[in-house]
Amino acid sequence: MGKIYEALMKAEEESGQPGTEQAMPLAPSYGFDPQGELVVLGKPGSVIAEQFRFLRSQLIRPQEGCSPRTIQVTSSLPGEGKTFAASNLAVTVSQGLDEYVLLVDMDLRNSRMGKVFGFKEDTPGLSEHLAENIPLEKLLQKTSLKKLTLVTAGTKIEKPAELLSSYRMKEFIQEIRNRYPDRYVIIDSPPIEMAPESLAIANEVDGVFLLVLRAKTPRDRVATSLERIKKEKILGLIFNGDQKSHHNYRNKSAKLSGYGYGYCYK
Ligand SMILES: Nc1ncnc2c1ncn2[C@@H]1O[C@H](COP(=O)(O)OP(=O)(O)O)[C@@H](O)[C@H]1O
Ligand SMILES: [Mg+2]
Repeated sequence: MGKIYEALMKAEEESGQPGTEQAMPLAPSYGFDPQGELVVLGKPGSVIAEQFRFLRSQLIRPQEGCSPRTIQVTSSLPGEGKTFAASNLAVTVSQGLDEYVLLVDMDLRNSRMGKVFGFKEDTPGLSEHLAENIPLEKLLQKTSLKKLTLVTAGTKIEKPAELLSSYRMKEFIQEIRNRYPDRYVIIDSPPIEMAPESLAIANEVDGVFLLVLRAKTPRDRVATSLERIKKEKILGLIFNGDQKSHHNYRNKSAKLSGYGYGYCYK
């Protein structure tokens, strides 16, 4: 854990410094990316795209152990960039030579992944599979990217926690692991502090990336999240954040004055 805390301290220190990183406008709209959030496509030469490629290399060729295949992206609180990171990571991994990706939106409370990839809100997905037994193969959505397939969160349901903490959810993760052993499965999920199902998901996946919003996520929240996730599951922290104001993210015309994606090993 030592290195994680060192990294947190470093991120805090850096956030107090004037932006040394390049300003970067958000990605232009890509047709299937109406919000322009897939910066790895819109700005492949940017530092942030480079950081996602770095993450991909850490995933595919880890310094030790096997490459994790089922990967959850989560964070302590809402709005810290989980969907942004999961989608850009998924695109980046799928851009590798041999890597196929299944991206799954398991945030049934605040599902956004379908929208990022230009799908309609009522596109069936995980909730139909879990609640109505619709077979998974009917829910795989092809994206414009050849090696990236999406399972949306599906139609909004009443009690996502019950569904996602259920035996069906475990079965679902087992099923995708067994049926697609050659794919990287990247799972977007709700915030740990707001949704107990996120920890249930963490117990089933190979590894978890915990997002930290630079200068925003309180360090004690990060520490609590780290305590809750089984240590052996933590792949690392991803530091996300505009150094001046996160509100800039929501203003698509604003230039980001700085951001950082970092990665650190346990
Ligand atoms: N590094 C970033 N650069 C630009 N926009 C970002 C970044 N991180 C998050 N955002 C934006 O901030 C908003 C919230 O992020 P989101 O991924 O939906 O958070 P979460 O999934 O954790 O609730 C979205 O509009 C997203 O596009
Ligand atoms: Mg989200």
